[in-house]
Amino acid sequence: MTNATERTVVITGGTGGIGLQSAMGIARTGARVLVTGRDRGRGEAAQARLIEETGNERVQLVIGDVSSVGGVDALAAALTTRTERIDVLVNNAGYLGNEPSTSEDGLEMHFAVNVLAPWRLAQALLPVLRATGNARIVNITGGDKPAAVDVDNLMAEKGFRGLMTYTHSKSVMESMSMALSRELEPHGVSVNIVFPGRASTNMTRSLSSSGLPGAMKLMLPFFRLFFADDGGKSAAKAARSTIWAATTSDLDGVTGRYFDTNSKETKLHPTAYDPQVQRCILAAIEQATGGGAT
Ligand SMILES: NC(=O)c1ccc[n+]([C@@H]2O[C@H](COP(=O)([O-])OP(=O)(O)OC[C@H]3O[C@@H](n4cnc5c(N)ncnc54)[C@H](OP(=O)(O)O)[C@@H]3O)[C@@H](O)[C@H]2O)c1
Repeated sequence: MTNATERTVVITGGTGGIGLQSAMGIARTGARVLVTGRDRGRGEAAQARLIEETGNERVQLVIGDVSSVGGVDALAAALTTRTERIDVLVNNAGYLGNEPSTSEDGLEMHFAVNVLAPWRLAQALLPVLRATGNARIVNITGGDKPAAVDVDNLMAEKGFRGLMTYTHSKSVMESMSMALSRELEPHGVSVNIVFPGRASTNMTRSLSSSGLPGAMKLMLPFFRLFFADDGGKSAAKAARSTIWAATTSDLDGVTGRYFDTNSKETKLHPTAYDPQVQRCILAAIEQATGGGAT
């Protein structure tokens, strides 16, 4: 990659939680950082904090909601009016729901935010990613160990199961990312996946009994304790693998890999590499976007 101060880095969901802490670390390298989020008030507060704490004046806010195809396209358009090049795109914005929910486009919400949005944003930003000659995309995963993709359950067709539906959507995202890495390699754009580790954030603090399937409900008090507000301490720790993946020269020319919370390369579940599984996911994306997935 180019020198840190010449880089432009976009972090979706960079106005709170792990994304904000990732933006903090990346802004400290001197890069220009564009953080995105839905809420302008929260966004402006985050931008002010980022500038004050890092001393980097080149932190900008771009408002956008990635839960719909129109929202992703509008965000991409807003970003491309701000910059002619993007060196690093961190697809960090994610969704964890306690109740079944559908997006503006009528899609299961985990699929919409955690799978379709990173795919669509990468495609929509391809011209500005290609402009650098060696851009990188970092997709943020969740869940514990890499787990299997069930192609018959991409949008929770077998029933909504809260945390398990979230975890499965991240497995689907991992498989999608492997397909995307192959597609974008000829354009000089790499795609890697990072697991940040667990942190107390709005996402984890909002977890309720209805979001925990079956016997897992018994673990709610433990979750509450584990994810008690710590003023961003655990989010800062969790952000370390994202900061590493977005800034290290070790990943120059590296694509289609998965790195755990310690930035250690680990294998994904075999279904993530399965071309047939990938085809099913891309077909679902294509159908959801009315054929405009690529
Ligand atoms: N927290 C954990 O323990 C954990 C563990 C593993 C993986 N992860 C992953 O790490 C990533 C960040 O998680 P987090 O816990 O930091 O989440 P969070 O605290 O809920 O993230 C908040 C950030 O995302 C933005 N955001 C939320 N929904 C959005 C949407 N539809 N469109 C655009 N921006 C949106 C928020 O701003 P607005 O609210 O203003 O939009 C804010 O900037 C996610 O991909 C998550 O799955 C988290």
